[in-house]
Amino acid sequence: MTFATEIDIPRELLRRFECAESVLVLTGAGISAESGVPTFRGGGNTAVWKGMPFDVISSASMVQRNLAAVWEWFDFRRGVLQSLEPNEGHRAIAQWERLVPELTLVTQNVDGLHQKAGSQSVIELHGNIWRARCTSCETRYAITPDEDRSDLCVSCGYPLRPDVVLFGELLPAGAFELAGERASSCDLCFVVGTSSLVYPAASIPEIAKAAGAYLCEINPEPTPLSHICDTVIRGKAGEVLPLISNQNKLSTATANQVNIR
Ligand code: OAD
Repeated sequence: MTFATEIDIPRELLRRFECAESVLVLTGAGISAESGVPTFRGGGNTAVWKGMPFDVISSASMVQRNLAAVWEWFDFRRGVLQSLEPNEGHRAIAQWERLVPELTLVTQNVDGLHQKAGSQSVIELHGNIWRARCTSCETRYAITPDEDRSDLCVSCGYPLRPDVVLFGELLPAGAFELAGERASSCDLCFVVGTSSLVYPAASIPEIAKAAGAYLCEINPEPTPLSHICDTVIRGKAGEVLPLISNQNKLSTATANQVNIR
């Protein structure tokens, strides 16, 4: 396994990136940290809400017991998010859609910052905080920063809830299956800014690795996945990801000049 510092991107990784036919990127809360979004397990004001740990307030049973409290927490989180912008990490991945023959972006994040950075195709494993969903007929509604959200479904009158996967709930139909399918056929898999503790999302890089993909983790901290990675880059996503595409362009230009490709 190669360990790299923030500015030391292994040549082997650059080579793999340049040759890859299919790249999968799995992101977690850490990619949005440099935009100012608090991570779940890094402390901060979303780890505990009014005395409740996030996995209690953000749970299926809390929707049953106290939907208003769940909304209050998600309204607070949207309030934090609405003024925040994507960072260089989100932007680099959006740019990769044009650099790589097939790019699959899978995110556990619900903040919508990948889309805001320009990513066209995002598999959202845990939903999106900018949508509401009917608790009965499942009609979905966009929530915008400028308008008050509704409490009730226009179609059937039942209460709406955040269109986000909560603890104790299943992932949206088809999302994990599609991510797993892409993972099993990618050449190169990046795992960016996730503690790799929450399943089934954490199994996606394991599927990629088992199918023969080169696995690269980008995270300032070790995770339970680190030991199976081919390369671990201990750095911040917003600093490391742009270097991979920029150094790649640079190395391609240099190689072209001296005619060694
Ligand atoms: P966590 O809060 O568990 O982990 C965030 C990870 O990001 C940690 O490993 C940090 O070391 C890393 N990190 C912090 N800053 C970073 C940076 N600038 N660049 C790169 N990495 C950085 O968040 P997730 O792994 O996303 O699920 O959590 C997974 C799921 O648990 C979430 O989707 C959410 C939560 O419960 C649901 O809500 C269903």
